[in-house]
Amino acid sequence: MKVNVGVITISDRASKGLYDDLGGPAVREAATAHGWTVIAEGLVPDEIRAIQRAIREHLARGCHLVLTTGGTGVAIRDVTPEAVREIATRELPGFGEVMRMESMKITRNAILSRSLAAVVDRGLVICLPGKPSGAVECLGFVAGAVPHCLEVLQEVPTSC
Ligand code: MTE
Repeated sequence: MKVNVGVITISDRASKGLYDDLGGPAVREAATAHGWTVIAEGLVPDEIRAIQRAIREHLARGCHLVLTTGGTGVAIRDVTPEAVREIATRELPGFGEVMRMESMKITRNAILSRSLAAVVDRGLVICLPGKPSGAVECLGFVAGAVPHCLEVLQEVPTSC
């Protein structure tokens, strides 16, 4: 199936224009390299309601997959996991497990990441770290399972 993707950067400072959003463009490029089509992009502050609204808007626009970058760390303002869990019907723990496990081979700080994936409506939401290279690496570790996951969620006939 054609995979429509939304990319949301979650950052107080980037949303205030204090620095350029590097994470969103990096994730967009990685998603395109995986053969997916980015149809919507957003930039929101680290606020639970703003994050939830942006995810819902992207799903309503036809995104099968929403990739977020940022807000998964240990800072008090990092609330992406809390925002997503509140609107999710289920979490897919394997995504977070694999992202952390593989990232630990790259940086010991990966243990601080609360990266996750969850189902919201019929869409898959994957929450990646804020560091652009970390976000791209983490997406690469889990991308292989995305097409089948989306086919199941969209009830498209699958081969397995
Ligand atoms: N994962 C990978 N693959 N590569 C990285 O460089 N950086 C880590 C981690 N995960 C990193 C990574 C760092 S430094 C932090 S603090 C956490 O993700 C949380 O990131 P966030 O707060 O920017 O979302």
